[in-house]
Amino acid sequence: MTDTTAPIEQAGQTGTSTLSGVPETLLITLAARLIAARQNPDLRFADPATEAVGKALGFDPDRFSHDRASMRGCVVRGKWFDRIVARFLQGNPQGLVVSVGSGLDTRPNRLAPPPGVDWVDIDFPEVVALLEACVPPLPNVTALAADATDVAAWVDKVPWREGRPVLMIAEGVAMYLQPSQGMAWLNAMAAQATARGSSLTLALDLASPLMVSQSHRHPSVSKTASLFHWGVRRPGDIPTAIPTLRLLETHDIARQCGLPSFLVASAYRLLTLGRPIYSCARFGTSDAD
Ligand SMILES: C[S@@+](CC[C@H](N)C(=O)[O-])C[C@H]1O[C@@H](n2cnc3c(N)ncnc32)[C@H](O)[C@@H]1O
Repeated sequence: MTDTTAPIEQAGQTGTSTLSGVPETLLITLAARLIAARQNPDLRFADPATEAVGKALGFDPDRFSHDRASMRGCVVRGKWFDRIVARFLQGNPQGLVVSVGSGLDTRPNRLAPPPGVDWVDIDFPEVVALLEACVPPLPNVTALAADATDVAAWVDKVPWREGRPVLMIAEGVAMYLQPSQGMAWLNAMAAQATARGSSLTLALDLASPLMVSQSHRHPSVSKTASLFHWGVRRPGDIPTAIPTLRLLETHDIARQCGLPSFLVASAYRLLTLGRPIYSCARFGTSDAD
């Protein structure tokens, strides 16, 4: 296994100053992972590669540590995505993982994909440049600079062979998209899977319309001058709009982010007859498990 703790050349020459707007939001999740051991030790999240990234960037996670609910939510969410990816890797040791809006996440270091798997991280050019500067390369893991929602522009640059099972994950991404852009993106992925005879699994986190309408008040997102745009009333709305997808599982994040968040999320469920205020969901084509 690659030594992820080896010293990394100072990526801090430019540091995080090249990031603004939505790309800057990757610092929120990076901060959550960096302070997980001290702020949320019960979650038992460990990632030496993330610590190396934080050091290389000279990044101070205390910029966001006051937002305890989000810090906890990012780690709860990250562990859910880790579980989904680990399950895919186990069942599909020759599969393809496409990680959309991967930011500076070091999930491949945490999960050590088997040699038959290809893993492609996709993010905007300034993010990919930073990732390549501060995360040591791993075999079969590549990064692509692209607008991930423009599937036609990148799909032929990734090793998506006919029939190859594909997992696309997008953690902390969907809510920043325009609603029509988000649906068109998922639709394009489902159409590619049909055209290539591949099983496709999608894992996303979805904000409710209420959460989107309040994003200007979000204690961390507001520090990056970003806003949420795409709210989904319930995860089942996605397969209703894209019938080749099935909803395979959901996971309520908001109810695991401390008491105030739990109470708001529970009240929201009661008032809306069961809708989550913020959750993760896994979808698949009919042949995905
Ligand atoms: C909140 S951060 C999450 C980063 C990472 N997934 C994590 O959990 O640490 C959102 C990321 O999505 C990326 N992103 C948003 N929209 C995107 C798009 N259309 N194409 C590629 N990347 C995008 C941003 O640049 C940023 O890195």
